[in-house]
Amino acid sequence: MRVNRRGMAMVAALVSVLACSPADGPLPADEAPAAADRRAGAPGIGDPDFPKDGNGGYDVAHYDLVVDYVPTTKRLTGVTTIKATATQDLSRFNLDLSGLDVREISVDGSPARFGRQGDELTVRPAKTIADRARFTVRVAYSGTPKPAKDSANLGTYGFVPTSDGAFVASEPNGSKTWFPNNDHPSDKATYDFTITVPTGLTALANGELVGAPATKGGTTTFRWRERHPMASYLATATLGKFDLRQGATASGIPNLAATDPRFKSSLDKLYTTSAEVTDYWSTVFGPYPFSSTGGVVDDYSAGYALENQTKPLYGGFDPDETIIAHELAHQWFGNSLTIRRWKDLWLNEGFATYAEWLWQEHKGRKTAEATFAELLKRPATDPMWTYPPGRAKPDDLFNQSVYTRGGMTLHALRRAIGDATFFTLLKTWAADHRYGHVTTDEFIDLAQRLSGKDLTALFDAWLFQPRRPT
Ligand code: ARG
Ligand code: ZN
Repeated sequence: MRVNRRGMAMVAALVSVLACSPADGPLPADEAPAAADRRAGAPGIGDPDFPKDGNGGYDVAHYDLVVDYVPTTKRLTGVTTIKATATQDLSRFNLDLSGLDVREISVDGSPARFGRQGDELTVRPAKTIADRARFTVRVAYSGTPKPAKDSANLGTYGFVPTSDGAFVASEPNGSKTWFPNNDHPSDKATYDFTITVPTGLTALANGELVGAPATKGGTTTFRWRERHPMASYLATATLGKFDLRQGATASGIPNLAATDPRFKSSLDKLYTTSAEVTDYWSTVFGPYPFSSTGGVVDDYSAGYALENQTKPLYGGFDPDETIIAHELAHQWFGNSLTIRRWKDLWLNEGFATYAEWLWQEHKGRKTAEATFAELLKRPATDPMWTYPPGRAKPDDLFNQSVYTRGGMTLHALRRAIGDATFFTLLKTWAADHRYGHVTTDEFIDLAQRLSGKDLTALFDAWLFQPRRPT
């Protein structure tokens, strides 16, 4: 689902450019590249840094994912049903899917032809879908998911098989490793999950359980529902042996902690810290945006954690308070408020990093001011000063500058506008764009409006210059 009309117009403009160039769009394998078809959906959603991510011509409202997984064979069998609305006439459109065999696709119940080219799955419905029409796509597929591991600082992500199941963390574009979708954060949707695993294993997806898990014939089926809009990279179906602790936070938000048996000793701390942090952030950032909170520790050493919606996932380590504070801050900044373009990633990571410093301040350990002052002492030659965090680079998305200098940007802002305005700004930002999409310009505009100050020079120096701000 898309919220902002301005972005929609931008995407539409790009779609028409790309659709005129048949060389850009994969065609169904059985189809010779004919004359340009302006009714073909573009193979990318319009993020210039990730030109093939997502797709043009439609907007997904809901994914219904049915997934069966057998860890011993590493085989996944799936059916994905997508409810979408066309944003142009569509003679064909793409989904993103990496590997896996597609058996059958239907559009509104009628069989559709399809073709594959790299990670682009092109679907040609029996008849053209009219602009603004709602339509349903059903894709039956199976195979052995292969996680993505394409660049140095991204590591391994997507659907990652483990000895007892799978670790599923897909930022930035790994959800296509386990289900066909519009794999870009600018198209959020709600999700239903029906996941079947061998009995004894637990399937952990986003949102809340719908009914009790059902066991039959040696398998157990878990149904989960995320009823708030979610970016595809936050979708998870983490599977395996888990110890669980369930309850609610002091303020009444349902809380679920899950740990791999190897991390059983972390379960209680994960549960209590996640609860405490969720409640505290609700007082700082405004009401918690989702229907449950919690966390999952799996035994896969990913080298990172991911803020999977309602269930942050920690990859193979015992999470401390700081990282729990970080991942749960993302529930507001990243998950409820989602970036439209990857270049704005500091709106996620700078905010979550600043939240770590706010947590230490809250606990009386160290003020954000002290953290800021210490970091500012880094020599002018530190790589953080040459990487402008306001423009995350596609080949170095998760650069430390996006996190640390992004967080420092917020502290520099706090100094400039004062605590009262700064904390009002954080709450207003989270409230104004709840469940929506955001850009850096929108944040700068709001900061200037609430403070009544011209902050152009401050943001320019902190976000966009390749040198240490003075
Ligand atoms: N958003 C995550 C965090 O800040 C980082 C995800 C890194 N993704 C990756 N593929 N390495 O905790
Ligand atoms: Zn983060």
